[in-house]
Parts: sequence; structure tokens; C-alpha cells
Amino acid sequence: MTTPSMKIASSLLASDFARLGEEVRAVEAAGADWLHCDVMDGHFVPNLTFGPPVIAGIKRVATKPLDVQLMIDDPITYLEAFVQAGADRLTIHVESPVFKNRAALRKTLGRIRDLGAKPGVSVKPKTPVAELFDVLDVVDLVLIMTVEPGFGGQRFMANQLPKIETVRKHFQGEVEVDGGINEQTAKQVIAAGANVLVAGTYIFKSPDYAEAIQKLKQSAASGQCFDSPAAGGVAQH
Ligand code: DX5
Repeated sequence: MTTPSMKIASSLLASDFARLGEEVRAVEAAGADWLHCDVMDGHFVPNLTFGPPVIAGIKRVATKPLDVQLMIDDPITYLEAFVQAGADRLTIHVESPVFKNRAALRKTLGRIRDLGAKPGVSVKPKTPVAELFDVLDVVDLVLIMTVEPGFGGQRFMANQLPKIETVRKHFQGEVEVDGGINEQTAKQVIAAGANVLVAGTYIFKSPDYAEAIQKLKQSAASGQCFDSPAAGGVAQH
């Protein structure tokens, strides 16, 4: 089974918001493939970050895709604003209260695609990955959180690795992992079947963004050489 190419999605949450434009240019020049934007509303997660106006500002500087994760109670209301602001990928959480009605989740994922962005779906650590199975056919991306969402710089939760393997067994699209990704954990999540690594702290708290991204890519490449259970034991190259 082939998987999509390995990518580094730099999480801007860890960047210096006083110099956001410069940080976007710097991390793109350092080799980031996507710009991961953590949208938080202070209700769905205990932190408040930014909305469509900031996404639009990032879009004016960015040359790489904006990978926007909506950690908010009501993504339905704000979908259009985020796509119009420039989100290339828009990922929603199955746990958002508006999706207690599962039909609304599927409909919303279809609406993201109709609006011109690529839909993604995400689960928090406590949510079983089976919650995603009935929408895998309408998403381009699955995001497995390896920290409790809300803050950067947390410790990687290795007990989420089986969820990555399970998703990869059922899904050939982008499998993204977010939270505590560094030189040690990158190889583990790639070996489990992920192909998109979200990294914030490891990159932006490094004195050399290019070196940090290179180390992540090298670690990921070493993970691709492992026999991945997700690939049925076939080495990934
Ligand atoms: C956590 C956010 C992550 C975070 C990245 O809620 O979704 O994207 O910024 O985490 P670190 O800093 O561990 O890479």
C-alpha cells in the first residue's frame, strides 16, 4: 500500500506572533511543506488563538498551503469565513458539539469541499478512532492528536500510536499527527503509518528552523524504513 509523501506542517502557534509575517517567511524558507494554523475558541479547548482575519494575514504572506484546524464548538458557522480567508485545508473535530448529530458532520465535510478547501477530520486522544470510520470516504485528511489539544509544548502520547496504525489500515489519504512531534517521536508516528507531521515547539524554539526541519525529515525517513504494521509489514520507501 503506498502512502502520500511525507510532509512537515509547521504549527504557527509556537511562532512569535509579534513577527508573524517574518515567521511565516522564515519557516517556509526553512523547508516547511504546510503552515498549520491552530484555531481555538476558548470553549472547545481551554485556549483562545485567532480567527479568519489572522488567517487572511497569513495568506497574504504564505506560499505554502494553509492547514487550518478548527478546535471550536461551532465550525459550521465559521466554515465559509475561514475558506474565504484562505484556508486550503480545513480540519474539524468529531467532538464539536454541533456534530452530536452525525449527519451534520458528513454534511459539513461535504460543504468544506464545495467551498473549495480540502476537508479533514480529527479526534482528541480520548476519542476512539472508530468515530471516524463512517466519514473516511469524504475526507482527504485524518488528524490524530497526540496531545490534549489547546497548547503547544506538551509531551507526546505514545498510547495514540495504535490509532495511527488503525487509520492507515483503512485510509490511503493524508494521515496527520499533531502534538509533541520531535526528532524522537517523528520516526515512531511515521512507522505507524502517518505521513504529515505537525511540529510547533520543536521548530520555533530551535535556533535554526532549517536544521530542525531537516532533523524531523531525517527521523521520518528512518521511520519509513521500519516495517510498518499499517503497511502489512511492507517496508515503506
Ligand atoms: C495543540 C496544537 C498543536 C501544537 C503543536 O493543541 O494543536 O498544533 O501547536 O504542538 P507542539 O508544540 O508540541 O509541536
